[in-house]
Amino acid sequence: MFINTISLSNYRGYKKADISFGKSVNFFVGNNGSGKTNLLESIYFLALAKSYKTVDTSTIKTDSEFARITAKITSDKDFSSKIVISKIGKKISINNKEIDKLSDYIGKIKVLAFLPEDMDLIKGAPKNRRYFIDMIIGQFDKNYLIELGNYKNVLKQRNELLKILSENHSKDFTLLDIYTEQLSTSAEIIINLRTRFITKINDELEQMYHYLSANGKKICFKYNPLIERDILIQLKEKYQKDIFFRTTSVGPHRDDYDFLIDDIYAKDFASQGEQRIIILAILLSIANIIIKEKKVKPILLLDDVFSELDYLRQNQLVKYLTTADLQSIITTTNIKDINNSFLNNSKIFSVKNHLIREDKI
Ligand SMILES: Nc1ncnc2c1ncn2[C@@H]1O[C@H](COP(=O)(O)OP(=O)(O)OP(=O)(O)O)[C@@H](O)[C@H]1O
Ligand SMILES: [Mg+2]
Repeated sequence: MFINTISLSNYRGYKKADISFGKSVNFFVGNNGSGKTNLLESIYFLALAKSYKTVDTSTIKTDSEFARITAKITSDKDFSSKIVISKIGKKISINNKEIDKLSDYIGKIKVLAFLPEDMDLIKGAPKNRRYFIDMIIGQFDKNYLIELGNYKNVLKQRNELLKILSENHSKDFTLLDIYTEQLSTSAEIIINLRTRFITKINDELEQMYHYLSANGKKICFKYNPLIERDILIQLKEKYQKDIFFRTTSVGPHRDDYDFLIDDIYAKDFASQGEQRIIILAILLSIANIIIKEKKVKPILLLDDVFSELDYLRQNQLVKYLTTADLQSIITTTNIKDINNSFLNNSKIFSVKNHLIREDKI
């Protein structure tokens, strides 16, 4: 899948921008605050129909009433996609026909993004890892998100009930039994889907990490469900504890993941650059799973990806993207370390004060 062109009107700092992308690697080079992330975010917005971690309206240029993103996409068929964002909402069209249901639209443009915020994946709180994995599994399997929604609803009701039981010193567990059974059914489905997905990532990860890190170390992505077997029994065993603490102490909402390099926990020792390589290796592993299962090549959005990567690793990444024939959009403050042989096969744009022009080398 390719994004051929994008036009922005009043999007963040861009009054107007028209870009024609190359089918392989595209570099957007510019100083801090020049508009690189804003451009990448506009593609993310187009794909997911929402801004990344900000409110949609903050993407409208400060002196404007609305923002517009239009793009020409090549997939099985070519299509055009348009999003108009205004203070009262957003309108999405495909081939100039307005879409009523967001769920009919999301997923048509497949992107995988690496954003600086993703750096807290390894050392940050477990909830970052859960969110990251949940969103990715959700892209493959809409039922996963539905099940996760069910689980969260029951969990909320169960936690409210635990508070009541605790306050009333009640021993009537009739309703608690019902919620616990519902929670257990949902938990089992979620844990199974997570386990299966992590196995799939691990099948790709070793080779990808080896390539990007250019070292012979072994990597393992581990899923550590708090409860795996006899879920209902284990939830029931925790009744007294859960009532005392007024919350559900075990279940997929408390699960965590770990990365091990040569059997050592990455969260304890990995440097900034090493963490970046692990995350990139995961992202590219996921790209491979998408290619195999969905028969489509996702577009990669890599924001400020070269920071903390040395000469060798920067070039390994670009080499991989070039040979795997993946369209990628990379922002960076400089490309001085990238080999000319790769630059010759890429498109290079310079970004200055939210003005973009293509550079010829
Ligand atoms: N809604 C908006 N209207 C106008 N300008 C905006 C809006 N939102 C953000 N900006 C401007 O965009 C600029 C930031 O751009 P961006 O984040 O794309 O920079 P960058 O090139 O990625 O920089 P860095 O290298 O530091 O990551 C800020 O200076 C901000 O003022
Ligand atoms: Mg930026």
